[in-house]
Parts: sequence; C-alpha cells; structure tokens
Amino acid sequence: MQPFLTIRQSSASYPVYVGRNLLGDIRSLIDNRGRIFVITSSALRDRFGEQIAASLDADVIAIEEGEAFKTLDTASSVITQLLDRGAKRDSMAVVVGGGMVGDTAGFAASIFLRGIDLVHIPTTLLAQVDSSLGGKLAVNHASGKNLIGSFYPPRAVISDLAALDSLPRREVLSGLFEALKGGVIGDASLFQLLESPPDFDVDEVVHKAIRVKAEIVSADEKEADLRRLLNYGHTIAHGIEAALDYRDLTHGEAVAWGMIGANAIAKRRGLLDRETAARIERAIRAWNPTALPERIDREAILAATEHDKKNTGSQRVMVFPRGIGTCEVFADVTEDEIAYGVDALL
Ligand SMILES: NC(=O)c1ccc[n+]([C@@H]2O[C@H](COP(=O)([O-])OP(=O)(O)OC[C@H]3O[C@@H](n4cnc5c(N)ncnc54)[C@H](O)[C@@H]3O)[C@@H](O)[C@H]2O)c1
Repeated sequence: MQPFLTIRQSSASYPVYVGRNLLGDIRSLIDNRGRIFVITSSALRDRFGEQIAASLDADVIAIEEGEAFKTLDTASSVITQLLDRGAKRDSMAVVVGGGMVGDTAGFAASIFLRGIDLVHIPTTLLAQVDSSLGGKLAVNHASGKNLIGSFYPPRAVISDLAALDSLPRREVLSGLFEALKGGVIGDASLFQLLESPPDFDVDEVVHKAIRVKAEIVSADEKEADLRRLLNYGHTIAHGIEAALDYRDLTHGEAVAWGMIGANAIAKRRGLLDRETAARIERAIRAWNPTALPERIDREAILAATEHDKKNTGSQRVMVFPRGIGTCEVFADVTEDEIAYGVDALL
C-alpha cells in the first residue's frame, strides 16, 4: 500500500498511511527484524491491542487510560515492562490509542535505550489529525501539562479510519474542533466541510486535516515559527483547561472557545473582518461545544496563559486569522488583549 503522504522533517522522514480496515493487514505496513511490543491502554486492549499484536506476533503492554496517568511514572512502568520482557535496541514499540497513550507510550519508547523504533496507530480523531503527527511526545508534571517530553519522529503512522466508528461522540467532536482549526489556519475547503453539521465526510476531513498538519511540521520541526500556527486558539484554550483542572471540557472544546477568543482580539486589531469572524464562530457553535462552566474563574484563565509554552518574554505569542485558510503569528500580544479575548467568552 502506498502511504497517503510522507512527512519530511530534518531528523527523519516517515510515511502516514490512511485508509479503512488497515489494521487487519498491518503486517504488510510494519517492517521490523527485532521483537515488537504493542503498547495500548487497558480500555483499548480488547478492541484493538490484541488483534494487532496477534497479526504482528507481538507482546502486549497495557497502561491505565486518562490524563491523570499521563505521567513519568506510567512511562517508567512501560520501560520496566519492556526490560522485564527482554526488549532490546532492535525492538519496536507499536503504540495504539488516542493522544494520551500515544504521548505517554511514545515518550517511553523515545527514551528507552536512548530510543527504539516507534510506530503510531492513532485511534481517536484528535490523534489521527493531530497528536500522532510531527514527532512531539510528552507527559505531564505536577506543575503542568506536557512539561516533560521529546521530539522523536516515528517510523510510520497508520491511521485506520474504521477505528473511529466506535469513538464516543464527544471524542469525535474534540478532534473535529482541531480539524476545524486546521481549516482556518491552512485549508478553506476543510473548513467548508465542517461548516454544516451534522453531515460531514469523516474520511475526507481526516485526509485534509492530516495534510494541513503534515505540511506545517514538514516545513518546521521544532516550533520555531511556522509550527506556531498550529497553536491557533491554544493560548486561551490552555488557560481555560488549567483553570478547570483539565476537567469538564475536552481539549478540542477548549480550543473551540480559544479560537473565538483569539478572533475577538484579531477583530479588534483590524486583522479579521466582522463577517469572517462571525462565520468561524457560527461554524464552531453549530457543533455545540460544551459551554464554559459558570464556576470558571477569569483570573485563573489569565494566570494560566502566562505560563504558556509559546511565550518567549513578557510579550505573548498568539496566532490570529486574517481570513479562512490564512493565519499569522504575532509576538507582541499584551496581557490586556488576552483579557479582552477571554472577556469575549465569559
Ligand atoms: N503530541 C502532540 O503533538 C499532541 C497534540 C495534541 C494533543 N496531544 C495530547 O493528546 C491527548 C488527548 O488525546 P485524545 O483526544 O486522543 O484523547 P485520549 O487519548 O485521552 O482518548 C480519549 C478516550 O477515547 C477512548 N478511545 C480511544 N480510541 C477509541 C476508539 N477507537 N473507540 C472508542 N474509544 C476510544 C480512550 O480510551 C479514551 O477514553 C492529550 O494528552 C494531549 O495533550 C498531543
């Protein structure tokens, strides 16, 4: 099978396979001389893990699911199990799950014996269009999300669209908002596909959204400039998520609100016209993202945006759309402007 596309980063190139029912014939897509370890979650083990392991003649390692387990301890327990089962430098980790499993088990593979071969099999929409692409891996620290991690390109990414059939609707929506973000930053036709719920062709959305992300990470591996475009909506989203202790909203829902907040600032700066801002907001609201809870604390959101990883000094870095499919990075955003964007949501 030919890959849908190849991501070319300065450290490595790797194929991204996208299609239906790829998992049944996974052996033809994975090439490894050493032993293979399928790392998944207890929740996904029966649904995907065992089947994939059987066709690869691989061992299965299962971790606990959920953001609370996205930790150095979980990564360390994966490494312990790899050691106990005799994994070696030529072994391969095939990581099966959503972004939580992909990040945690992928990070473990990236540091085990200074890094063994890694294949991502993302099973959520968010993981297929976002977290499995680009080589970023991270676990959380008590002080914050994704504070420990690595850049480590996989050998391949295999996205089986049929895996999404069992995804709960709220998880579909979480990925959908990241895809919609991809439309605003780089592909107006992708945005259009998502403009009229409830009908959308998930296969087409995944293909287009993967292309947007792949083009950006191929051009710029390490977040220096172009890659920052992917953070559209994320400054305020991170503030919202931290203020809610990562509960109540999915990541995609937080990004949905974050895009509306960013657009308010872009509009005030004269970068984005009123009609386009309204069109983006209409598209987001049409999917009914969970409302910001009453209890959310404005000051907590603002305090959390200060720790945003994108900031390089006192000025904040944010991404603003100029139109659908065209965004730009600005490094001169003031605290007052961020407060204005947050107030537009509350
Ligand atoms: N590395 C990156 O570049 C990057 C980018 C974006 C997000 N992330 C990370 O991704 C994580 C979120 O990932 P997520 O949104 O995929 O959520 P998730 O991994 O937490 O999975 C959500 C839920 O969906 C279930 N699930 C997964 N696949 C399923 C399927 N096919 N059928 C039924 N249920 C299924 C899981 O068991 C879980 O309960 C966060 O930790 C975030 O920090 C990383």
